[in-house]
Amino acid sequence: MERRDFLRRSALGGAALGTGLLSKSAWGEVLPKRFERGVEGVSALARDEAFWRARRREFAPAPDFINLEYGYFCPAPLPVLEAEQKGSSEINARASYFMRREMWDEMETTRAELAALAGVDAGEVCITRNTTESMNIIVQGLDLEAGDEIVYSDQDYGSMVEALRQKQERFGIVLKQTAVPLHPESDEEVVAAFEQAITPRTRALHVTHMINLTGHVLPVRKICDMAHARGVEVIVDSAHAFAHVDYKVSDLDCDYLGTSLHKWLCSPVGLGMLYVKKEKIPKLWGLMGDTVRADDDIRKLERLGTRPYNHHRGLREAIRYHEAIGAAEKYERLRYLNTYWTQHFRDHERVVLKTPAASERHGAIANVGIEGVDPKVLGEFLYDRYSILTAPIPNHPVASGVRITPGLPTPLRHLDRLVEAIDSAAKVL
Ligand SMILES: Cc1ncc(COP(=O)(O)O)c(C=O)c1O
Repeated sequence: MERRDFLRRSALGGAALGTGLLSKSAWGEVLPKRFERGVEGVSALARDEAFWRARRREFAPAPDFINLEYGYFCPAPLPVLEAEQKGSSEINARASYFMRREMWDEMETTRAELAALAGVDAGEVCITRNTTESMNIIVQGLDLEAGDEIVYSDQDYGSMVEALRQKQERFGIVLKQTAVPLHPESDEEVVAAFEQAITPRTRALHVTHMINLTGHVLPVRKICDMAHARGVEVIVDSAHAFAHVDYKVSDLDCDYLGTSLHKWLCSPVGLGMLYVKKEKIPKLWGLMGDTVRADDDIRKLERLGTRPYNHHRGLREAIRYHEAIGAAEKYERLRYLNTYWTQHFRDHERVVLKTPAASERHGAIANVGIEGVDPKVLGEFLYDRYSILTAPIPNHPVASGVRITPGLPTPLRHLDRLVEAIDSAAKVL
């Protein structure tokens, strides 16, 4: 069976089952391996437009604008949405019976499947609402004293910087900002940016895995190795890298990590993951109090109260969808979408790209600007004249520009239109 037929049938097959979920083996059996590389160094599957057209139909995006802002969140594909909605009806019908007698087991199944996807132990994973919550559980939960230092970067996400600032105001910790180079020549240059900010008082580095402003993927494993050699812990904001970059959390050897699942895993909106390395769990205080569970029980960090557990049904379907496409193949496609259009502007006299060109340093996201043009003006031009939705980033000290984020449903013709639009903007603005 062709993989595209399989994926389409899976949506129907899933709906026929009670939970809307297929067993892992049912997905795994039929995955063809079509990852041979073509002349341009891009896999055959990444360039197989018929395959990706079929994926677009599974997302059924609104036709009245071109979405190049998949960075906010990726819509759930229809099988995921269906599992979530069916779960909502079922849980509504079973009511407290579900909550009291079924929910706990189901929660553990979901946790185990998510942990397997992340390549870590289920006892190291919590399901949260998003990255913001996950990262706050870490930052607010760390037992730090006045004078202890945390190193963060000039391109970290605003809400994460706010979490750090609150910690500073409340507990007197010291924040040290480092500058991440926009176009590093080597991993070592990025590692050095963090290393030079470490002092004997440094307790942790706060590292954004994929910078949301530019799409720059940082060499997190090398940063962790350097930090650990100096007795410093590493907190990773992987909001954009998880299920986008092809990696397992265990590959990073970080101490703490937060991510959103509604971004690149395409889960229902309102889901995130918190990872805490087993031996670090006793060190964290929960954001919600829990003195009942053992100190090293990750569940002490997720006493979040009553939640929409139907989201977890959608999450499990999203994991299957991700695995059916294949993490490596998905990452390759997303990188291909980036280079497909950015290559037109790498040497342009007015167009500026603030995203590294090297394939290991980016995914789908890129940051583009035109010399002398306010990003807001460029963003409006792209929308008003070409119906292209983007994310303008005005007034950032180093990363101002317009963020362009294609996603799994993006066809190449949308990127052709983007190239035409930027070419035109560079002439008339
Ligand atoms: C780097 C980074 N961290 C954290 C977040 C927050 O994600 P969420 O709104 O899902 O909590 C974002 C959102 O775009 C982000 O880009």
